[in-house]
Amino acid sequence: MTSLIDSFGREITYIRVSVTDKCDLRCDYCSPAKGVHPNGKYTEYLTAEEISRICSAFVRLGVKRIRFTGGEPLLRKDLTEIVSMINQDNDNLDLSLSTNATRLERYAKPLYQAGIRRLNISLDTLNADEFNRITRGGNLNKVLTGIYQAKKIGFDPIKINTVMMRGVNDDQMENLIDWSAKYGLELRFIEIMPIGKSGIDSMNKHIPMQEMLERVEKHLGEKLIPSISRQGGGPAKYYRTEKKHLGIGVISAVSQHFCATCNRVRLTSRGTLALCLGQEHSIDLRQPIRDGISDNELEAMIVKSMELKPERHFFNENRKNIEFRQMVSLGG
Ligand code: GTP
Ligand code: 5AD
Ligand code: SF4
Repeated sequence: MTSLIDSFGREITYIRVSVTDKCDLRCDYCSPAKGVHPNGKYTEYLTAEEISRICSAFVRLGVKRIRFTGGEPLLRKDLTEIVSMINQDNDNLDLSLSTNATRLERYAKPLYQAGIRRLNISLDTLNADEFNRITRGGNLNKVLTGIYQAKKIGFDPIKINTVMMRGVNDDQMENLIDWSAKYGLELRFIEIMPIGKSGIDSMNKHIPMQEMLERVEKHLGEKLIPSISRQGGGPAKYYRTEKKHLGIGVISAVSQHFCATCNRVRLTSRGTLALCLGQEHSIDLRQPIRDGISDNELEAMIVKSMELKPERHFFNENRKNIEFRQMVSLGG
């Protein structure tokens, strides 16, 4: 079987599929306040069949994990249909979802039935006013209800993604650690990344991984030791304490990047195959598909695109090429 190997010898086994570039929240570091929010014509977006066809081509080329992202993926009405289609056409896939959980209470069960098992949920604070401010209008209670429902349905693991920002939500570090432990959730602290104008403007609130780990140790009263994630295959590093058996994950894209072990590419909702989160190298798959290319030709295009995958991001050296990228369209 052909596999996907890029010019730096990295094998691509993980694809992140952004099913929509719309979001019902407007997190300060991710989305513009309003106006410039992406809003394409219906025909600009890939159909469920097109997404499923591209994903199956990736699976034939060795991809084992598919993560659905957005915008907010649950805004796409046919998400469960997309997941089911891919799940039925392929064996032994790790299907996961990154969501803000505002609509999770309603969709947790159908998503589980469709084949999603792992959930990553964005949540930056447990303080309702602070949540409303960071998300520019979001309702914390809806998110918490969604998380508790997902736990009841049996998703495992459920990871909580917290983008840590100095002077914004770092007061919540300890609170989030205790709450995650109580409900059996895997907490991960994320360094803010300078992607798009919203991300770049938020970099003055950046907290490096090392500082976060020191604060976690202080709160837990124990040294953290590196541990291996139960499941994932993503860029997070995991730590645990020996006595209390508490764990924490950190994603340190800025202070200590993980590009050397990169295993992923991204498909946007408009059919662009983006080869790196931090650089623009990409190809269009939508037009060739609509022009009627065969499955073999589609696979050949994907294999060839690996030559374009860059070695790494340049978040610290050069932010010019990422100023006009939109995190909300790339799906993180
Ligand atoms: P699993 O390991 O499969 O659980 O998922 P994940 O951590 O890869 O995905 P998630 O959507 O939860 O992303 C968590 C954070 O990692 C987000 O801030 C993403 O933007 C970031 N991230 C994910 N993949 C990459 C990557 O390839 N490069 C960089 N720089 N950041 C990434
Ligand atoms: N830096 C780091 N993480 C970000 N996310 C969105 N924007 C940024 C940024 N600028 C995170 C969200 C979500 C994940 C998919 O990406 O919080 O959890
Ligand atoms: Fe891979 Fe690019 Fe992310 Fe680095 S920034 S881990 S090369 S996608």
